[in-house]
Amino acid sequence: MSLVMDFAGKAVVVVGGTSGINRGVAEQFAAHGAKVAVASRRQDKVDDTVAALKAAGAAEAMGFTCDVRDIDSVRAGLEQVHQAFGDFDVLVSGAAGNFPALAADMSANAFKSVIDIDLMGTFHVMNAAYPLLKRPGASIINISAPQAWIPMQAQSHVCAAKAGVDMITRTLSMEWGEEGVRINSVVPGPIDGTEGMERLAGTEELREMTRKSVPLQRLGQKSDIANICMFLGSDLASYVSGTVIPVDGAWSHAGLGGISDSLAKFARAQK
Ligand code: NAP
Ligand code: COA
Repeated sequence: MSLVMDFAGKAVVVVGGTSGINRGVAEQFAAHGAKVAVASRRQDKVDDTVAALKAAGAAEAMGFTCDVRDIDSVRAGLEQVHQAFGDFDVLVSGAAGNFPALAADMSANAFKSVIDIDLMGTFHVMNAAYPLLKRPGASIINISAPQAWIPMQAQSHVCAAKAGVDMITRTLSMEWGEEGVRINSVVPGPIDGTEGMERLAGTEELREMTRKSVPLQRLGQKSDIANICMFLGSDLASYVSGTVIPVDGAWSHAGLGGISDSLAKFARAQK
């Protein structure tokens, strides 16, 4: 059987799409002929990504700067994209912040900064994009994390925020389902060559420990996440909504190896 993914003429928006996993998602949609827009805080990252999207084969590419903590900046940027591309076929929301810190040592503002980016940011993107979605037919993908249901030391802020993100996914699948809008969370495992890996398992020793703790015995690639997003964005997934899909080589079943203990040790050593 041959399977062709054709996104020609489709409008795809990736918020937080200017580096790492999310940029990989944006580039893969571009390589399959979509019109792709990306957004993040830094203009230089937006410009660099837009150039890469064009080189990858995007029918059209554009970007805007916003801070997902500021709903007005998100709304203004999404409206610009809507004017250029029309209704959104695929919306990926993946902006996030992370640093290892124990709850007792974190300021309230440190905890809040991650809640504001990951959880409030997701709500802002959903709320601002709602009138701009293709209906029926839009597919929304929230990028979550295993911390959403597996407690990890030095990650209380991320655990709380990403659990909330997944509940937004489940709730909106019910609120927006009758309009033909699908919404799912994708949960990446440890993805090689990313900021997230650098922050949580930044040494060669930790990287190898993490690799061995994945039942499939390899770290994930950005393309592993881009592939599931292509599936969710396509008609193949037309009956898939409200789900939380780990793409992690079964890492979450293995309890994420020893990463919780190593993060707690790292955070204690920072004191
Ligand atoms: P990354 O390279 O740091 O990507 C984060 C993106 O979000 C960047 O484009 C960043 O650009 C943007 N961003 C951050 N804060 C923002 C804000 N306040 N407003 C708007 N944009 C903002 O991270 P990554 O490691 O690839 O992670 C991507 C996603 O996958 C995240 O949702 C993360 O939780 C999830 N995840 C990652 C892993 C992993 O192994 N890396 C594992 C599980 C889940 P600017 O700096 O220009 O704003
Ligand atoms: N340990 C403890 N507290 C920390 C910290 C750390 N490693 N890093 C930041 N903080 C605290 C700051 O001290 C500040 O609290 P304070 O005002 O009480 O001092 C609070 O967090 C906000 O930090 P600030 O640097 O002002 O926030 P920012 O909005 O500029 O950046 C972050 C947000 C901190 C999440 C930053 O790391 C970021 O932009 N990350 C995006 C990229 C990323 O994390 N990628 C991985 C995705 S998995």
